[in-house]
Amino acid sequence: MVHNYFAEQDIAKSYRLLNIGATTLIGASYEGDLDYMAAAWAGVCDFDKGYAIIDKSHYTRPLIEKSGRFVLCYPTVGIVKQVMKLGSISKNDDKDKLEHSGAELIELPGISMPVPKGCAAYLEYEVIPNAQMEQSIDMFLGKCVKVISDTRVYHNNHWHFDSADESLRTLHYVAGGHFYAIGKEIYLPEYGDD
Ligand SMILES: Cc1cc2nc3c(=O)[nH]c(=O)nc-3n(C[C@H](O)[C@H](O)[C@H](O)COP(=O)(O)O)c2cc1C
Repeated sequence: MVHNYFAEQDIAKSYRLLNIGATTLIGASYEGDLDYMAAAWAGVCDFDKGYAIIDKSHYTRPLIEKSGRFVLCYPTVGIVKQVMKLGSISKNDDKDKLEHSGAELIELPGISMPVPKGCAAYLEYEVIPNAQMEQSIDMFLGKCVKVISDTRVYHNNHWHFDSADESLRTLHYVAGGHFYAIGKEIYLPEYGDD
């Protein structure tokens, strides 16, 4: 079931979702084979473009290479345990990884694959092929083609964490089992309200 707090957002302003540098879940699907992995090294590289660093050993990577698409999801505090499972089990070793992770998958309009419930935003990208970068530094570039957010934390092209439940804050990975949840907003009105 799709909850009514999800809404499509402006692709041209999708950089605002990525600017906060949150940890992601990267998903890809090819011929019905779906996988998600955690990725701290993913972010923005233009107003409507993103990148992800995906090691050659990961099952998710050939799904991206074959389909030419990936989704970046911004998991929240409420699903941190599922994030660690998706980031520590490989589908190379466990074909039922998604089920065993405890992640609940939902369908969202305009997103081409099921996505994990409990994320603040979901962005779909078409790969901008760059074989040299993919091979040498495992970096995949993508052009954003769809943005859906949980409007309890992102609407009108801005984040609104301070008025939402703590469980909806994004995760910011350090290492091992250490994360931070995003903190309070600091707003300087003299620089505008864009
Ligand atoms: C919080 C977290 C962040 C991670 N960030 C990355 C990353 O940026 N790039 C990467 O290649 N692997 C990263 N990993 C490791 C992969 O998520 C992990 O190896 C995963 O099991 C790969 O799954 P797959 O083989 O099913 O694709 C991260 C793991 C965790 C727990």
